[in-house]
Amino acid sequence: MIRLKNVSKLYHPNIVGVDEVSLHIRPGEFVSIVGQSGTGKSTLAKLLFAEERPSRGKIEIGGWDITDIRDRDIPTLRRQIGVVFQDFKLLQKKTVYENIAFALQVAGVTPSRIRDVVPRVLSIVNLDEKLHRYPKQLSGGEQQRVAIARALVHSPKVLVADEPTGNLDTLNSREIVDLLSKINEFGTTIVLVTHDREIVNRLRKRVITLEDGKISSDVEEGRYKL
Ligand SMILES: Nc1ncnc2c1ncn2[C@@H]1O[C@H](COP(=O)(O)OP(=O)(O)OP(=O)(O)O)[C@@H](O)[C@H]1O
Ligand SMILES: [Mg+2]
Repeated sequence: MIRLKNVSKLYHPNIVGVDEVSLHIRPGEFVSIVGQSGTGKSTLAKLLFAEERPSRGKIEIGGWDITDIRDRDIPTLRRQIGVVFQDFKLLQKKTVYENIAFALQVAGVTPSRIRDVVPRVLSIVNLDEKLHRYPKQLSGGEQQRVAIARALVHSPKVLVADEPTGNLDTLNSREIVDLLSKINEFGTTIVLVTHDREIVNRLRKRVITLEDGKISSDVEEGRYKL
């Protein structure tokens, strides 16, 4: 599903994002990426959805070599990879419904299909009843659930979440992780960037640790020790 071969990302000749990372994530896996600040976790995530391009090496997603992906092919990639961030990135002037509908509109999806998809993804995240609220009228956990619903509109094969619980308290964080687990059970591959030890230990899934841009450990059913 996701294959990295000797991937390096240098932001400048002496600023290393990731350094010679090789990695294979199988379809349906749930992988956590952990490590201290500045070790390359977000860089790795950004390489997967082509917000950054590798300086060296090769990246394949679902058999598609995206190493040198052209800008005009990025929307196609983003339909296969949903992305969720720490700060939700919701449009404040749009309601929950409109935020999600907008992601479909910009992709050229027909109004009738939008009317079909939006309620479906909102029910996955259990927010069917808050569709007319604005982001400000929701809790942090609810806002993140809207962002997750939005990431699911194209039924992506992969969901990449970079510190999705970074702005949330323990209870809301658990809810978000439970939701990611549920989405994973439906078959979506999940790549979760986190530095939250409790989350990783609760998940009991594969854990990849980065140190100075390199993979320092990669364990199944790992526990996070720092
Ligand atoms: N756009 C950029 N330009 C230059 N250097 C960058 C850029 N983005 C990241 N870096 C550098 O690359 C390295 C890895 O950064 P990255 O954001 O991937 O770390 P991280 O593991 O996500 O950290 P955190 O836990 O703080 O989010 C750091 O040294 C960082 O300063
Ligand atoms: Mg980061």
